[in-house]
Amino acid sequence: MSTASVHITGIGGYLPQRILKNSDLEKMIDTTDQWISERTGIHQRHIIAEDQMTSDMAAEAVKIALADAGLTIDDIDALVVATTTPDMIFPSTATIVQAKLGGKDFPAWDIQAVCSGFVYGLAQLEGMMRGGMFKRVVLVGAEAMSRIVDWTDRGTCILFGDGAGAVVLEARDSAAENGLIGSVLHADGSYRDLLKAEHPHQPSSPALHHPALHHAAADFSIDSAGTAAVEMKGNEVFRVAVSKLGGVVTEILAKYELTDNDIDWLVPHQANIRIIQATAKKLGMGLDRVALTVSKHGNTSSASVPLALNDLYRSGRLETGQLILLEAFAGGFAWGANLLRWSK
Ligand code: UT7
Repeated sequence: MSTASVHITGIGGYLPQRILKNSDLEKMIDTTDQWISERTGIHQRHIIAEDQMTSDMAAEAVKIALADAGLTIDDIDALVVATTTPDMIFPSTATIVQAKLGGKDFPAWDIQAVCSGFVYGLAQLEGMMRGGMFKRVVLVGAEAMSRIVDWTDRGTCILFGDGAGAVVLEARDSAAENGLIGSVLHADGSYRDLLKAEHPHQPSSPALHHPALHHAAADFSIDSAGTAAVEMKGNEVFRVAVSKLGGVVTEILAKYELTDNDIDWLVPHQANIRIIQATAKKLGMGLDRVALTVSKHGNTSSASVPLALNDLYRSGRLETGQLILLEAFAGGFAWGANLLRWSK
């Protein structure tokens, strides 16, 4: 039996306590607060504690989202974690989160679409729920990006932060105007070398070849030893991101017969304020209608869209029936967008 509508009924966000400011980065690498602020819009980012894992942050976000929905883990039919920084190669981080929350039997799995993981996850789960497979699911975007950043590379390490954002999705049998409307997803693997992190077991992984890495990280107690390291051709990624995001927002509005003027809120991936400004401009929107967390969180990859949605929700500015456009762009490249009418 198919389901008529799928709704976000709970939201939670978790950010680790430790904050790394641009002024801290000035002491680690050849950079300035001014350069980072002007080029990216980032002023600070949160960094996971040494004894925390991605699953710990995810579990905290899920607890808040479940409480917000008035549910417990026993009410859940499936749990999905979108992450690029899983606790382990296997088992999935989702199964670890399930165990940490005391959940049993329901399916749990990870999605890997890097910064687009949450947007991909929403599309996947909406389809499964509309098909009648699940009634109540949790989707989390959770990342410990600081563990895979090369702390000697000023072009990338300034960008990323850690955190987790979660939503509870509930299916309703009755048709409703509100709830998830639909999604558009894309990927083009021919761009895969522009933004990547090789596995640590790959002999060419740069993480294994930076003598200064352990030194820089140790100064600030950032544990990045022995992991992969993000490599990015920033300029080229920037150019393609602006173009593909401009395309996907136009495409999703056309697909669901809506226009720029119908959108109440843009909830974008938080990679760089200049990329967000370009998408908002394309939609003819002022930044006052955009959920912005990039200045205080940096780029938290798959956590950035749910954390921005959480921020908007907690600010009390969301109203029932408002149209929200979520979008993300990621390594791969993989990108996409979702449309949602707020119904909580
Ligand atoms: O989440 C997935 C998607 N990721 C993204 O969307 C990231 C996209 N890319 C970007 O956001 C931007 O390309 C960056 C913020 C990474 C870089 O900004 P940019 O304006 O593209 O700078 P650039 O790479 O062209 O570098 C300009 C200059 C260079 O110096 P020269 O060659 O002109 O002398 C860099 O060496 O800025 C220098 N630079 C820095 N200077 C101070 C690069 N990083 C830094 C730094 N501090 N941290």
